[in-house]
Amino acid sequence: MPPTNSNGPRTLIISALKRGMSDIKSLFATRLYHAKLAELGKSIDASELETSCLVIADDDEAGQNWCEENGYPGYTSYASLTDLPWRFPIFADLVKVLDAHVAVFAKDLQFDLGDKALKLEDIWINILPPGGIHTSHIHPHSVISGTTYVAMPEGASALKLEDPRSAMMMAAPPRTKDAREELRQFIYVSPAVSDVLLWESWLRHEVPMNMAEDEERISVSFNYNWE
Ligand SMILES: [Fe+2]
Repeated sequence: MPPTNSNGPRTLIISALKRGMSDIKSLFATRLYHAKLAELGKSIDASELETSCLVIADDDEAGQNWCEENGYPGYTSYASLTDLPWRFPIFADLVKVLDAHVAVFAKDLQFDLGDKALKLEDIWINILPPGGIHTSHIHPHSVISGTTYVAMPEGASALKLEDPRSAMMMAAPPRTKDAREELRQFIYVSPAVSDVLLWESWLRHEVPMNMAEDEERISVSFNYNWE
């Protein structure tokens, strides 16, 4: 009869973790902010914002041409319109609300901003058609980046966030399927319309394929810098 394994290494490890014998803590946190826009400031009408995004996209020939020339699926105003808040009051209202959310996040991050402030640098519209993707990227030259969600039809892609230490993990084993969220290498967040997500601009992220049958995924993204 084989010996029982009640004192085997696996049992010892589990019992040590359960009894809290070891001091194991998380360091170098990556924070992700997720809130409803309406939690702070003036409420932004989601359908008015959606209509504004569609009208702006329709009128913005320079933007449409840029997307076509650069193989960008759908539409972005990123390269063509740098003054949305000045042109459209709903974007001016939105920026005020975003400023409030960014201030809360900066507090959470315990930033010492000194005599400078976090200020909106860019804000732009993204319209992603069914089948469209937005490949993995970071937002250089910024401090806080984020997105608010304007139209998220059934099947619209989540936001995929990547562990910033990936480049240092050449020999690391994968994590178990039920690994705690803070230990996973990729995180998928499925925001609802009028949610806002904020993260530090160095955090690599992507929008996987929009699997909505025939509807566009619409979002407004932005960068804040420290100046
Ligand atoms: Fe992005």
